[in-house]
Amino acid sequence: MSERTVKAALLGVGTVGGGVYKLAESLREEMVSKTGADFEIARILVRNLEKERPGIPRELLTDNWREIVEDPEIQVVIEVMGGIEPARTCILEALQAGKQVVTANKDLLAEYGQVLMETAEAHSCDLQFEASVAGAIPIIRPLKQSLAGNHLTEVMGIVNGTTNYILSKMSDEGMDYQEALAKATELGYAEADPTADVEGYDAGRKIAIMACLAFNSRVTFSQVYTEGITRVTATDIRYAHEFGFEIKLLGLARNTPEGIEVRVHPMLIPSDHPLATVKDSFNAVFVHGDALDDAMFMGRGAGEMPTASAVMGDVIDVVRNLVHGCSGRVGCSCYKSLPVKPMEETENRFYLRILAANRPGVLAGIASVLGNNGVCIEQVVQRSRSRQAENAELVIITDLVRESGFRDAVTILQALSTVREIGSCIRVY
Ligand code: NAP
Ligand code: HSE
Repeated sequence: MSERTVKAALLGVGTVGGGVYKLAESLREEMVSKTGADFEIARILVRNLEKERPGIPRELLTDNWREIVEDPEIQVVIEVMGGIEPARTCILEALQAGKQVVTANKDLLAEYGQVLMETAEAHSCDLQFEASVAGAIPIIRPLKQSLAGNHLTEVMGIVNGTTNYILSKMSDEGMDYQEALAKATELGYAEADPTADVEGYDAGRKIAIMACLAFNSRVTFSQVYTEGITRVTATDIRYAHEFGFEIKLLGLARNTPEGIEVRVHPMLIPSDHPLATVKDSFNAVFVHGDALDDAMFMGRGAGEMPTASAVMGDVIDVVRNLVHGCSGRVGCSCYKSLPVKPMEETENRFYLRILAANRPGVLAGIASVLGNNGVCIEQVVQRSRSRQAENAELVIITDLVRESGFRDAVTILQALSTVREIGSCIRVY
């Protein structure tokens, strides 16, 4: 027992909040050794007071935020409700009241990070958010602190468990997309509405947060180019294997002399790249810096206890700072103002699958359209069912090409009478 007890309020006790409560209980005896104070979750904010919540003491529940924000004994607020409002208002009011805040809310941080960080700084409070990116994997603190001695140039990651699970099942077990999505939902990886997962929005929020920290400049979710996995087919995965690649949904942020590139899209990555071996619902983040060279962080990116692990790590840090009187020591790291490069100006390699007429001269016509738009072919294969088949499938891997030039070429190809269908365009690492 310590003479001091730090009291906290939990905002939300769903998947993550339930895990945080369990973990806090299991750490009760050790908190004083870890932080110098005892720690207690004294209030829990919920929407529905009537819901059954096994293991959660009913007397801690409230649906009245004022009871928390106006309680001077509560020094720490742990926001695990999700969404923009009322989470945004609660966090701002908590900071204005001088309370320390821990949050897992990527939606909020990726759009309103600046105002939240400024408010924390103005009130000398901690605002910690390790759980907002990649669940249990420590990546926020490494980017903000441990790797601060570097000029980081690239952060690339598999930061959505649902899509990695779907692509792994399609790649390794030949499952089709719908079956793999249904399984991901059954296992609790996908959200009830999986749009944010499969369209890349969830990963887009996470890469926006990581780009801010890696490059010390504000990037918001609305500046992230996003493309999901809904158009990736089993055929593409088979061809990718033939060429020696895996297809992954990657969040990618680069600091280039012309500005920050920040996007989420499916990508062919070489089968021997460390990220290609990250399967199922695991997440991983690959970082490159001038001093560290390459580093990869891997682990469970979602779920009750993995996410609670990241939240409690922040809570322990926040309590320790309170005990030592140094809250708010690590503030906002966005001290630069770098431009974000439009996607059209980026350079990429492409995998292009085309169904075209099986006639002499067709390949030459396609190659000429690509060449006229600055697209150089690196590899090409052609498959037709038989010599007499009406159509043939062409798969092309390009050299690095400006995105706008490639898009122009595809528009022209689509209009050619010899081109039946552009099956897929997927970027290549
Ligand atoms: P969840 O299971 O839906 O739980 C949300 C909780 O917040 C519920 O207890 C709900 O109360 C409460 N709540 C929601 N709106 C509220 C309101 N207006 N007033 C009061 N209480 C409210 O969500 P979750 O999966 O735990 O996610 C929580 C946060 O963690 C989100 O920001 C999410 O993005 C982030 N996160 C989640 C994971 C994951 O694996 N789930 C991983 C990383 C980060 P009721 O119970 O009364 O409805
Ligand atoms: N739905 C997310 C995922 C978990 O599949 O990774 C929350 O970040």
